[in-house]
Order: sequence, then structure tokens, then C-alpha cells
Amino acid sequence: MLQTEESRPTFGSRLGIIFATVGSAIGLGNIWRFPYMLGSNGGAAFLLIYLLCALLLGLPVMMAEFYIGRHSKRNAVGAFKVIAPDKKWSIIGYNGMLAAFFILGFYFVIAGWTLEYVFQALTGSLGDKSAAEFRVEFSNFSSGLFRPILWTLLFIGFTHYIIMTGVKNGIERSSKFLMPLLFVILIALCIRSLTLPGAMTGIDFLFKPDFSKINSSVLLSAMGQAFFSLSVGMGCLITYASYFDVKTHLQRTAFEVTAIDTLVAVLAGIMIFPAVFSFGIEPTAGVELVFITLPNVFSQLPLGALWACFFFLLLAVAALTSTISLHEVVTAYLHEERYITRKRAAVYVSLGVTVLAVLSSLSFGIMKNFTFFGLTFFDLLDYVTTKLMLPFGGMLICIFTGWYIDKNVLKAELTNRGTVPFYLFRLYRFLLKYIAPVAIALIFLNELGFVNFLKSL
Ligand code: PFF
Repeated sequence: MLQTEESRPTFGSRLGIIFATVGSAIGLGNIWRFPYMLGSNGGAAFLLIYLLCALLLGLPVMMAEFYIGRHSKRNAVGAFKVIAPDKKWSIIGYNGMLAAFFILGFYFVIAGWTLEYVFQALTGSLGDKSAAEFRVEFSNFSSGLFRPILWTLLFIGFTHYIIMTGVKNGIERSSKFLMPLLFVILIALCIRSLTLPGAMTGIDFLFKPDFSKINSSVLLSAMGQAFFSLSVGMGCLITYASYFDVKTHLQRTAFEVTAIDTLVAVLAGIMIFPAVFSFGIEPTAGVELVFITLPNVFSQLPLGALWACFFFLLLAVAALTSTISLHEVVTAYLHEERYITRKRAAVYVSLGVTVLAVLSSLSFGIMKNFTFFGLTFFDLLDYVTTKLMLPFGGMLICIFTGWYIDKNVLKAELTNRGTVPFYLFRLYRFLLKYIAPVAIALIFLNELGFVNFLKSL
């Protein structure tokens, strides 16, 4: 059934809104990708740039997406057709939708890996091994043919099911009680990690910046990671904000989501790096970093298998609330703009993504040597989305909202028609118009070698 404007679902409570949006933001990006990026990009210096990007680029773009979504009450592409009859702005929506589709193509693989670890914890095969053994086991598993693909397919199935049960019931209910639980387990694991021998080396690596490590590729990686982690730059939050009601405090929601997401990323760093150094693992290990580090931490805990099981289960749930939001971007577009029933739209998205995800999974095994520009299929999807499409989308969203949208209209939406204050509105608009787009453009140009304020290594 196609929905009319009136029957369009909205999120129920204020907490429901926060949890659904935080659910989208918190996921593998915080707990898997952030530590691996930080480890491969020089440690604390990366953290510093990441924090600046989240605050000065991510937060403003998030608010702009909230404005666009709630003002238009449409999906990521349709929103621009409503607000800007000038057709060319819809490119932001198309870019975002495509990015969501590509992200799902690699995200589902890692999400599948979390299920394997739940399984291993349940069956007692995680056990007490040396760091080297954990590493070998991981590489045997991830390069395998059927097993990782099976988990990935299962994950796609879960996501598909929740998308089918509807926006409000599915998304809201699933994120409300499990995210706080993840937070509690994360804190407990931080404490365990911090009390390991040699933990302080990891803390220094995470918090003591070595500025000589900053180069253009670190800048681009940190910016991409900030966009990815906050789920901005691709219309995901446009889609979610279209389900917000008129009373939702957009500024506060954006601020809270950014703060919570950043906190979880930093906690993930505190959980991982002391253990990395304590167990003699290379911080530059890459995609496998978290998966080869955490089993060591669990093996040092009483009832380690139980901890592992809970942790990976909750991580899977965090990933699920993110895959739902990504899936929703594409499904809502097909349903509302292409007039396909919601059910059928969801099936198309799930099938399409399955193809990408299978190829991504194989790129750790039999397709390892099948590279494009030196990147495996998995790496290519990751690179193109996080380092190109999201920052590009974010830049255009800033330009659109800063230059094209009337400032009174923008202010009215962000202040709920003047019922809540926005003291820093002028500064906000200045950021949108000048600082953010110029900063993003410079980081791009610098990496491409057109300007040269920081050379790549
Ligand atoms: N922010 C999610 C994470 O950190 O895992 C990933 C993500 C979700 C990216 C939704 C983009 C998006 F639109």
C-alpha cells in the first residue's frame, strides 16, 4: 500500500527519536571502524582531527539534514524535490542513496562476523588462546567461503524482517533497551582493559598526539570516519528526520546524538588500545584489529565466554540498528518516489545488497587478488563511500542549506517556529556557508594533490 502524507508514520516518544537516531549512529563504525582507523592513522593525532571534524563538520551537517527531513517529510531524494523545485539539488539525495546501498554492501560482512563470534562464544570455541592463535583463527574464518557468507545472509535477513515490520515498531522498539546495555558492557570492558599490564602505553597512543603523524590522508580518513560514524552526508538522517514530529527539538537532538556517538567511539578506543599493546598486537592490523584483540580481553575475564557472547550480541544489535537505517534510505526512496510497494522495495534492496555483500565477503578469501586501483572489492566500497561520497554529500548539504535556503525558513524550522531559542544561529549559518564547505574542499584537494598544505606520506 502506498502511504499518503497523513498516514506517514512518525516516531513516538522523545526518547524513541533519540534512540532510533543514536541507533543509526552507533554501530560498527564506533566499535570496529574507529579503532582500526585510529590505529592505522597515527593514534591520538587522528583522534584530535576526528573530534574537530565531528564538531565543526558533522554536527552542522546533522542539523541541516534534520531541517531538510522534517521540513519536507520526504525521503532523501524526494526531500529536495519538495524544498527545491530546481531539480539539480536532488543529486544530494541520489548520492546519499547510492552511498547507503554501497555501505550496506560491506557493512553486512562485518555484521556477519559479529554473529560468528557470538556463535563461537556460545559453543565455547573462543576459549583461552594466545594472541597469535586468535589471529590465525580469525584469518581462517574470514577468508573462508561459506561460513562468513552464511552469517552475512542471516544478517541481511534480520534487517529485511525489521524493515518489513514497519518504521515505528521495528526501529523504535529494537533500539530502546539494547543500546544502554551495550554502553554498560563497554564500560566494564574498558575497566578490564585499563587494568591489564602495560595498559598505559595504549592510553598514551590514544590520547597523546604526535603532530608529525598528521598528513593529508590522516585528515581525509578522520573526516570520512566522522561522517560515517555520525551517519551524516548521505540522507540517512534526512529520512529519519522526516519521521520526527513538530515538537522534536532538532538542535538538542543533534547535539545529544553527536555527543553520545563520540563518547562511544572514545570508549571503544579505551577498550581496545590498552589491550592491543598489552597483548603485543600491531595497532595497524586493519579491519581485523577489534576481532583479534577482544578475544584476548575476554580470556582474561572470569566467565569470559559469557562476556564475549553478550558483547558480540549487543554489537550485532548496534549494527542492526544501523543497517536498518541504511536500508530504510533506499527502501523509502523506492517506495515514495518510484511508487513501488514498500514490501517489494525492501525485497529489491535486500537482493541487490546481497550481491555486493557476497562479493565483499569473498574479497577476504578467493577474491583477495581481484583489485581495483589496488583495493579489494570490500576496500573499494569502503573507500568510495566514506572518503568520497559522504564528505561530498556533506559539502553539498552545507552549500544547499547555507546558500539556497532562506535563513528565516531555516531558523523557523530549527527553533520549532520560534518556540525554542537558537543563540548561535549566525555562527551556525557561517559554518554552513563558509567554514564547512571550504574545509571539506581543502581536505579533498589536498589529498588529490591540487593544494599542498600537508603532504601525504
Ligand atoms: N553510523 C553507523 C556506524 O557508525 O556504524 C554507520 C552508518 C549508518 C553510516 C547509517 C551511514 C549511515 F547513513
